[in-house]
Amino acid sequence: MTTYFSYPSVELQNELRSTAEAIVAPGKGILAVDETNEGIGKLLATIGLENSENNRRRYRQLLFTAEDVSENVSAVILFHETVYQKTDDGSSFISVLQKKNIIPGIKVDKDVVPLPFTEDEVTTQGLDDLAKRCAEYKKQGCRFAKWRCPLRISERTPSLLAIEDTARVLARYAAICQSEGLVPIVEPDVLLDGDHDIVRAQNVTEIVLAAVYKALNDHHVFLEGSLLKPNMVTPGQNCKVRNSPQEIALATVTALLRTIPAAVPGITFLSGGQSEEEATLNLNAINQVPLKKPWALTFSYGRALQASVWKTWAGKDANVKKAQEELIKRTKANGLASMGKYESGAVLSAAGNKSNFKSNYKY
Ligand code: 13P
Repeated sequence: MTTYFSYPSVELQNELRSTAEAIVAPGKGILAVDETNEGIGKLLATIGLENSENNRRRYRQLLFTAEDVSENVSAVILFHETVYQKTDDGSSFISVLQKKNIIPGIKVDKDVVPLPFTEDEVTTQGLDDLAKRCAEYKKQGCRFAKWRCPLRISERTPSLLAIEDTARVLARYAAICQSEGLVPIVEPDVLLDGDHDIVRAQNVTEIVLAAVYKALNDHHVFLEGSLLKPNMVTPGQNCKVRNSPQEIALATVTALLRTIPAAVPGITFLSGGQSEEEATLNLNAINQVPLKKPWALTFSYGRALQASVWKTWAGKDANVKKAQEELIKRTKANGLASMGKYESGAVLSAAGNKSNFKSNYKY
């Protein structure tokens, strides 16, 4: 192995850095709406709607056309189909977002398959044609990408094999994205599933993040032009001991400080099944914790920004406005939390305290 390598050209570095920094601008975060067609189908079924292209389009139109959505949303993660969809008046979703100064991004992983001869562990697919797909999405106006690798905690998992695989796959993905001009959002997701306590969650998260950042360095990923999307460090869903937001914040920021270089501009948490209010309170506590915080700490939520929207919309055009108001309530609350300025209970949402956890959740 030689020690020779090159960084991206200065021009590309500047582009990647400025996109990453814009995504984590103060008071802003990411709206993740990259559910697969199968994933959104399950949500549509809960409100009695058919999983048709048009219903998926109607729902996403509701989100993207919400007034003032750009106040606290800097970026949106799209699914492949959505990149090419249009509003009722024929404007492409991407142009609607761009007009609002919201950066479009794209989920580029192709979901998980079993990692053979392990205890039900998985690996994430999609590397083969990734450069080609990134180039196409870039042409369509996307400026960043995301790729998720889930890891499950049990007595003997995650295995070293699964951790090493996650690190290598994420590093390959990130380097390919950057070479095609997209900011990679690197998402190692240590799942909420399980009865482990917060100490075990912190141990596992630290080992995983350390492995991921070693691999990103091995693959010469330009950290200033990348973002991390991790889990918060919380006890497992079935753990009897429930920790306070302050304890969760301390464990989370400690794990990040031990593993994430300060060159990374921002950390955009997933919500992972937490209720809307829980995800907001935990993000707020994370931003208030009295520790060093060299990166922006904000949200990239799917379920914790949309649960109240789904409940309120219920598939009816007459409810669109009200559902949009629910979205704005959550984006505002999380915008405040990303600056440590949210007051507990200040925003009451239609599904605020309802858990969004489902075991083996599929996006
Ligand atoms: P959740 O916030 O629902 O966990 O979704 C995050 C995500 O990874 C989707 O991009």
